[in-house]
Amino acid sequence: MHAYRAALLRFNQQGQVLYDEDGLLVVGPDATGRQVVQLAGDFRALTSELARDFPGLAVTHWPGRILAPGFIDLHIHYPQTDVIGSPAEGLLPWLENYTFPHESRFGDLAYATDVARFFLDELQRHGVTTALTFATSHPQSVDALMAEARMRGLRLIAGKVLQDRHSPDGVRDETEQSLIDTETLIRKWHDVDRLGYAITPRFAPTSSASQLRGAGELASKYKAVWIQSHVAENRDEIAWVRELFPQSRSYLSVYEDFGLLRERAVYAHCIHLDDDDRALLRDRGAVAAVCPTSNLFLGSGFFDYAAADRVGHAYGLASDVGGGTSFSPFRTMLAAYYVGREGAAKPGLSLSPQRLWWLHTAGAAKALGLEGVIGNLQPGHEADFLVLNPAATPLLARKTAQARNLEELLFALIVLGDERVVERVAVNGAWARSAGG
Ligand code: GUN
Ligand code: ZN
Repeated sequence: MHAYRAALLRFNQQGQVLYDEDGLLVVGPDATGRQVVQLAGDFRALTSELARDFPGLAVTHWPGRILAPGFIDLHIHYPQTDVIGSPAEGLLPWLENYTFPHESRFGDLAYATDVARFFLDELQRHGVTTALTFATSHPQSVDALMAEARMRGLRLIAGKVLQDRHSPDGVRDETEQSLIDTETLIRKWHDVDRLGYAITPRFAPTSSASQLRGAGELASKYKAVWIQSHVAENRDEIAWVRELFPQSRSYLSVYEDFGLLRERAVYAHCIHLDDDDRALLRDRGAVAAVCPTSNLFLGSGFFDYAAADRVGHAYGLASDVGGGTSFSPFRTMLAAYYVGREGAAKPGLSLSPQRLWWLHTAGAAKALGLEGVIGNLQPGHEADFLVLNPAATPLLARKTAQARNLEELLFALIVLGDERVVERVAVNGAWARSAGG
């Protein structure tokens, strides 16, 4: 059992930020041995409860620091760690010239393990404690990542990419074998400690109808398993899907037609959707992973928050490394803000920092179907949390000292913050790293 005293950031059920300037967080094992939040709130209000329920428990005091939930990245590619910053005309040439050649190396378990370690270190350094991540088409790429995440006690969701056509040698898989491999990996990794499996068709153009059908069958057989893919990212991609699947009403409905829209299905991008598509996401309980740094980098377009809210489907934030340009949730939240300003809605939106933060923590957990489990620091949530230093750089120190309210404080962190703000990361109640050794 551990108790920490510092400012405390968490969310109520409506997604509003609760902020205690002088907060208390007690974490420890629940009846089943999981490390969870036991007590959270204002330090003074909880003093008698602390003394009664946890007599003699020492309280570690961090003045000037903020305890906050670990960030959740709703869409990322671990094998694209080294693809970040590869310029291209747009999505399709980027895939062909950089991504596919690079991903072809992940059939080598030792290489995949090396990248997996670097990738997980990088997530931790940036305060990301859960990610929904693509591997490559090689089953070994999943084994490498899952084994490494398990050793670290991380809650991580990943899957082998399905791509049996329109893909070069080295990444293309074989229809029947790819489905056998997927089922084997589900049985091997799903629900092992904190790991989850995601059925992962890369995107409609690189899967045959039989592969998509098989993926849909697995998705209905294994309902607790996630689904992840890409949709409506780029106009050339959409035109290609229309040629390949002329019978489907839209790109999104290709996935519907193969049984791949349901709860726990997370579709990256969702930029060029119409309201029928949005209603379909909503009605099926599927969600969008908004990837602003990727969309700006690859020139894909702007996610339409206002339309998503009007129709009422869920979404959360994601880095989409390596189409995305940063592992940092601060960079992603800032880019998400820019997309609101300059994007589809006219006049531009000014998303609040509270909302941006929620979309990358409790809101992302809700989108994953893990509300009440991760992404928040209310009692019962798993103990994945951060110690943030709002004075990590001279400019941040100067700016946050002048913040007159929570909104100004969080905006300063989103606009000026990066991994230097993330002083400590607790995964499953234990420190994953401590700054300065
Ligand atoms: N569509 C199909 N594959 C990919 C990928 O690796 N990255 C992005 N951003 N879009 C994709
Ligand atoms: Zn992606």
